[in-house]
Order: sequence, then C-alpha cells, then structure tokens
Amino acid sequence: MSDAAQTPASADWLAGASLYHVYIRSFQDSSGSGVGDLRGVIDRLPHIVALGVDALWLSPFYASPMEDWGYDVSDHTAVDPAYGAMADFDELVEKAHSAGLKIVIDLVFSHTSDRHAWFVESASSRDNTKADWYVWADPKQDGTPPNNWLSAFGGSAWTWNRDREQYYLHDFLPSQPSLDFAQGAVQAALLEIARFWRSRGVDGFRLDTMNSYFHDRDLRDNPPAPDGISAQPRANPFLQQLHLYDRAQRGDLRPLADFLGQIEAMGAATIVGRIGDRLKAERAGPSCFTYVLPDVGFSASSMADAIRDAYAASRDARICWAWSNHDTIRHATRFTTKHADVDGIAAICAWIAAVLPGVFTVYQGDELGLEEARIGEDHLRDPFGRRFWPEIHGRDGARTPFPWQGAEPNAGFTTGEPWLPVCPRHVPRSVDRQAGDPRSVLSTYRAALGLRNRLGLSKAELLGCKAEGDLLLLEVRSEQGTIRATFNLGPTLQSSALGRHTVLAQSPGARFEDGRLHLGPGEFLIQTALGSGG
Ligand code: BGC
Repeated sequence: MSDAAQTPASADWLAGASLYHVYIRSFQDSSGSGVGDLRGVIDRLPHIVALGVDALWLSPFYASPMEDWGYDVSDHTAVDPAYGAMADFDELVEKAHSAGLKIVIDLVFSHTSDRHAWFVESASSRDNTKADWYVWADPKQDGTPPNNWLSAFGGSAWTWNRDREQYYLHDFLPSQPSLDFAQGAVQAALLEIARFWRSRGVDGFRLDTMNSYFHDRDLRDNPPAPDGISAQPRANPFLQQLHLYDRAQRGDLRPLADFLGQIEAMGAATIVGRIGDRLKAERAGPSCFTYVLPDVGFSASSMADAIRDAYAASRDARICWAWSNHDTIRHATRFTTKHADVDGIAAICAWIAAVLPGVFTVYQGDELGLEEARIGEDHLRDPFGRRFWPEIHGRDGARTPFPWQGAEPNAGFTTGEPWLPVCPRHVPRSVDRQAGDPRSVLSTYRAALGLRNRLGLSKAELLGCKAEGDLLLLEVRSEQGTIRATFNLGPTLQSSALGRHTVLAQSPGARFEDGRLHLGPGEFLIQTALGSGG
C-alpha cells in the first residue's frame, strides 16, 4: 500500500496534465480469457509512457455482473476477477508511479448494480437500515409508475419491486438502481470508498454521471422537449423529454461541490462530467470538467465556437478536453468528410489538442487513428446498442480490442476469443506497424504531446480562438511566450496574413509566400508570435 493516506499531496498535478484513458476490457488481455485485464495494463505501461502523458485514467474494474460492462458495480472496493486481483491493482499503481504516471480511476456513484449488498438490503423491506439509500416511491393510484421519467437506456426509469411494493428509480438499466445521494449516510459511505482507493495510492477520481446524483424530491413530470432537441433517431424516446426534474437542478449544486471538496481534501484531484462547468460557480477547488470536442461537423467555425464557449465556461483552464471516449463514436469517423481522411483528421486533431490550454485526454486508439468499428448485430455487447439496434448502433464500435501486433492473431490483444471482434481495419494501424514510421499517427501523437509538454502549453491561457474562412486560429500564452497555431480544416488551399516567426511544428506543405501563410487541406503551422521571445 502506498503512503498516500499519510501524505495528503496536492491535487494540483492535474492542472494542465494529459491523461491516457484506458478502457481495460479492450486494452490487453494477459490471461487468454478474451477480456483485457489489469496485468495487461501493467505489461503495456511502456506504450503509455512513450506517448508522453502524465496520468492513466482507468475504466471501472470493480466487482460487477457486467450488465453495463462494469458501470454496474456490485462491490466498490473489490477487483472483479475478470480483471485480476487487488495485488494486480497495487502493482499497477506502484509501477505506474515509478514510471512517473499518476493514476485516475472512475467512481461510479450515481447508481449501483442491483446485486450490490446495499440494494439487496434496501429492497428487502421498508424499514431496514438502508431503506432510504435508493430512490423508492409508491405507485400512482392506478398502479403505474410515480411519474413520466425515462431511462437513458430506454423505457420507464421506474421498476416495480414486489417485496417493498414500490417502484425504484434507475436512470440507466433496471439492474442499475439510482442511489439517493441526498442521504447523509449514502454520502458518508461513498466517501469511505474514495478514501479506500486513495489509501491505495490513487491520485485522482473521475466522478461518473454526477448530474444523475439528484432528482426533484416532488418527483414532478418532465415536460416534453422543445422541437428539434432530439439529435438521435426517435428510437429512444429519452430525447423527447426535457430533463428538468430527473437530473441535477441548480439548487442541488452546493452539496455536490461540498462532496468534491471532501474528496479533494484527501489530496486527490477530481474530474467531473459536463455539470462541472456549472459547479465552478459554487467552489474554488481544483476539479475540472470533461468536454468532448464537438460532433457538429469538422469545420473551423464550429470548432472555434465550441472551444471558445467551453473554455469560457471553465475556470483557470480547468477543463478536460477529449476527442473521443468509450461512449462516443470515434472522432476519426465522426469527422470524416469528403475532403478529410482518417489519417488527416487524426493528425490535425493531435496538433489542435497540443495547443489547447487545460487537461487533455487521449482515449485508447486515438493515438493510432482508429476509426469506429462496425459491429454486426450478432456481436453487439452494449446493452444500449442491443436495445435500439439498428437505429442506434450503441457504443461497441468505440470499444473493440486495441491492436498491438498486426501479424498476431487478434492483433496481439488476446490469445483467446476476444469479447468483441477485432476490427479488420484496425489491424494495419497496430502499434508495431506505426511505431517506426515517422509519418504515422502514433508518431504524430508523440510529437504533438512532446511539444505540449516542452512548451508548457497545457498551462497556457487562451488569448484568441477564431475561424477565418476554413482556417482555425488559436493564440495561447504560456510561460514560454505567445504561440499562434493555424489549422486548415477545409477542402481548399487557404492563406492568412501571418508573418513568419519561430516555427515550432508544421505539416510538410505549410509555406510562407508574399507575406502570407499558405496551408493546403489538413495542413497546419504552430509558431511563436512576434515579441514572444520564443
Ligand atoms: C458511463 C457509461 C455508462 C453510464 C451508466 C456513464 O457515465 O460513461 O459508459 O453506461 O454511465 O452506467
């Protein structure tokens, strides 16, 4: 066990850090079970270190019946045997720390599995000691659920329990009952869990679905969403409601802020979801909020608007940017246009990330330029995808096994039968095929993160962010001086009246001519600004 418990170190390490997000199940299988595990992460630490990130963010590895692949926790302080044992976790922490990497883990606190001992007890009667740890409500007079709230995974958010003769709330699957976070005893138990992992050396926590911690105590019906709010096909009616009463309200933010403060007092950094931009008004702690860069189209104007708005909503660059994660369509596919191919998108995104002030997260496979995998109905494992196929494909396409060695069976992920198929289009993008090629996406990521680290860009301040035609222009001030970065996200040659200064990085075709910078499609240039001293 580490000495973290005795030394409540500062959580400041997170400011400006870059994180590597490991979806353990699909990273590296060390046992031949077909499922990635903690030992696999240990074996692959050199890959993560070579990228130049500061920390590892691990997806849930706790005991779970795996109905939502570990986001349905049945014991928060046990390692699920599919992923290894507590000794593997301790070894991972120790080896990561010796390699200079911090460890961030997911805390899934808005709900548990229905097999969690807390729920089993809570469901057993109306007067046990945990009777109010979950959200229970009587049926309406006609026997139907207490209100119209819907689960994000489809259907009513209420499921009937025969023993209590009451409904319980679940924002996701019926097997993921929502905890009643407003109960002091629940908060105390959750803090105990954070303390447990902190004492094992964990440096930071990502608090999953914090906006689900609260709900309206009067259980008022949600109103219908105004026309046009629904971005997905109507297969899932969840988007037809305005989630006014089933999710956190402004008045609820103070207790959330206090809760985060108590975790940070343990010396751990915290990362929260999108609700974090609202939380910043409530507190001065160092937590930062996650922001997935837009899926509204790969254009300079939408990118500039999104970056500017998200940055403005953050405090002191306490924002955690990501292009992709385990819940979204991989960005190399999301951004594909007629003029931009996968390599081009992956590379330019790496360089944009290099200059963004704040925390940056690389989701496993971003650094290889992986596209979204196409998964047939027979292989679907995501409960969300299975429920809404084929209108909604679910999240398996972003969760397929990581390709390590192109010539090995299953691209070196497992010697067994992989839990999700390896995407054939990922095989030529495996680590061993890219590692020695200076033009590969992997080399680009290493170079981009290297520049970010060298120039302290992550701790910089965003001075300007705008679109000029198809050009995205970013200006940031770091301790090393002011830096201007220009990216052409359009299909044609673009030019800008920018003088030439010290070039820090550029794509091969970027050139200055007649006092202007000329960039072809997918080209970029990062340079110091006049008077920066850089
Ligand atoms: C996780 C999802 C999960 C959901 C419900 C989210 O925040 O990122 O993967 O399905 O919580 O458990």
